[in-house]
Amino acid sequence: MVKAKTQQEYTIIDHAYDVVVVGAGGAGLRATLGMAEKGLSTACITKVFPTRSHTVAAQGGISAALGNMSEDDWRWHFYDTIKGADWLGDQDAIEYMCREAPAAIYELEHYGVPFSRTPEGKIYQRPFGGMTTQFGEGPPAVRTCAAADRTGHSILHTLYQQSLKAKAKFFIEYFALDLLMDEDGSCHGVMAWNLDDGTLHRFRAQEVVLATGGYGRAYFSCTSAHTCTGDGGGMAARAGIPLQDMEFVQFHPTGIYGAGCLITEGVRGEGGFLKNSAGERFMERYAPHAKDLASRDVVSRAITLEIKEGRGVGPKKDHIYLHLDHLDPEVIHKRLPGIAESARIFAGVDVTREPIPVLPTVHYNMGGVPTNYRGEVVTLKGKNPDTVVPGLMAIGEAACVSVHGANRLGSNSLLDLVVFGRAAAIRAAEVVEKGKAPKQLPKNVEDKILARFDRIRNAKGKLKTSEIRRNMQQAMQQDAAVFRTEDTLKKGAKKIDEVYESYGKLRIEDRGLIWNSDLVEALELDNLRAQASITMHCALNRKESRGAHARDDFPKRNDKTWMKHSIAWIDEKGKVKISYRPVHNYTLTDEIKPIPPKARVY
Ligand code: FUM
Repeated sequence: MVKAKTQQEYTIIDHAYDVVVVGAGGAGLRATLGMAEKGLSTACITKVFPTRSHTVAAQGGISAALGNMSEDDWRWHFYDTIKGADWLGDQDAIEYMCREAPAAIYELEHYGVPFSRTPEGKIYQRPFGGMTTQFGEGPPAVRTCAAADRTGHSILHTLYQQSLKAKAKFFIEYFALDLLMDEDGSCHGVMAWNLDDGTLHRFRAQEVVLATGGYGRAYFSCTSAHTCTGDGGGMAARAGIPLQDMEFVQFHPTGIYGAGCLITEGVRGEGGFLKNSAGERFMERYAPHAKDLASRDVVSRAITLEIKEGRGVGPKKDHIYLHLDHLDPEVIHKRLPGIAESARIFAGVDVTREPIPVLPTVHYNMGGVPTNYRGEVVTLKGKNPDTVVPGLMAIGEAACVSVHGANRLGSNSLLDLVVFGRAAAIRAAEVVEKGKAPKQLPKNVEDKILARFDRIRNAKGKLKTSEIRRNMQQAMQQDAAVFRTEDTLKKGAKKIDEVYESYGKLRIEDRGLIWNSDLVEALELDNLRAQASITMHCALNRKESRGAHARDDFPKRNDKTWMKHSIAWIDEKGKVKISYRPVHNYTLTDEIKPIPPKARVY
């Protein structure tokens, strides 16, 4: 029993594992599977049932230079990723990801992922935005491996089944509260709340892996599930770890108008295209070569400009049409069945006859907990920007490796999940001593965690979680949008600071511990508000345009001053402090040379 500055005594159940993974999406499951296969005692804690994690929604596919449809090379993939990232990605990590990609895909195939097939029985691949050949000089690459338009779904189910087979232990519907950090800044475990019976759990481990996904729900309209509340980023920020490149938020060009659900880029990969109210295929003006398959930031900005200049469609001229009604219905049936269903349900559209109304919608966070390419969390200590935080790893969208830099290419996310989930398992097997007894931590470590939990649970202010959340989401949507200016960002920063402070006036109605969704949402909001605030302040701070960060008042990329990662801390009062880490403009091997910066045109 623990009663420390809390209003009630809490029973805490202890667990000890070699490794604990928080999150059971693609990255979390790939790490869990890899660690269990290597003989480490592995626990995976997840707030939702594993196959309900947001990876299930990933549609179009996973990139790898397999060359099944036409010639390809991982070095071309490396080039495209660096260009897509607008030279903010770490080239050592990008090399690792692109070089390892084919092996990672074959591994998935052997685990049982039911990829679509070519007539010869090879893994089917489709074109995706920003993917080219011959270092940008050749025709579009056909690089994205797909299981129809349900690739994430297939990967997630396969990895969960394999993890069970490898005897990983799952703690399902457990909400991770905070990291167990030592005074020297090392991590020794995580505290979690079992939503089903109300008990609290202390998980101690030699490595904790944050695989908690992005924080898309900081915005009003996003393709992310309601569970994408950046819980790992929130825990890391409270543990004094900086978050990196948070100003880079990706808008997917084709969210369904009004509903926000994703319509995969695979639609354009299969030959779909965008049209404005004049019936014009406007992407030809913005990206003469790549057209509808330019990178996402370019397409999202083009749509936004078309609407701004009065060429949007619909009664309010506030969206754009995505056509696939010219495609053979057999292609739609075979390759895009899921989006045909989504378009029918959420837009009332029969895609074989009518266009889908679409609008750029928040889709992905390039920023996150900074790591090296082995998945280890790094921080700035003294003069060393790559100091490893002992005992802590981060992977997937929760992390910033940084392979996506200022803008991620479509289908590089599923790849990032499996490559770095696997890399974390490889690293853990090197550094973890099997079965070693966990370190005893000073009692005040958990006292602080419980005091915060208890304070939120008993909050008696005036504002409901939903009211504070709505204010945050509206500020982010309005002021940290596709296009940004000093003026909008200053207004946004003021609003977000107010939102942050207003959390002090939170009111919780349900004080129970069993299935208390009121409390879950309040804890999630606490995680979101920190990341929303860092995003807004870093966006205000970065006075250039790069990738997804488009400033009307600083329209050019400025490599001299700004080719550096932002890292930012937030204190308990919501004050954001910003510093920098250099971009890794070097490669790991001499199989490829670094790509020097140049103008980014498609
Ligand atoms: O458009 C899509 O299918 C999304 C893929 C991605 O974000 O990588």
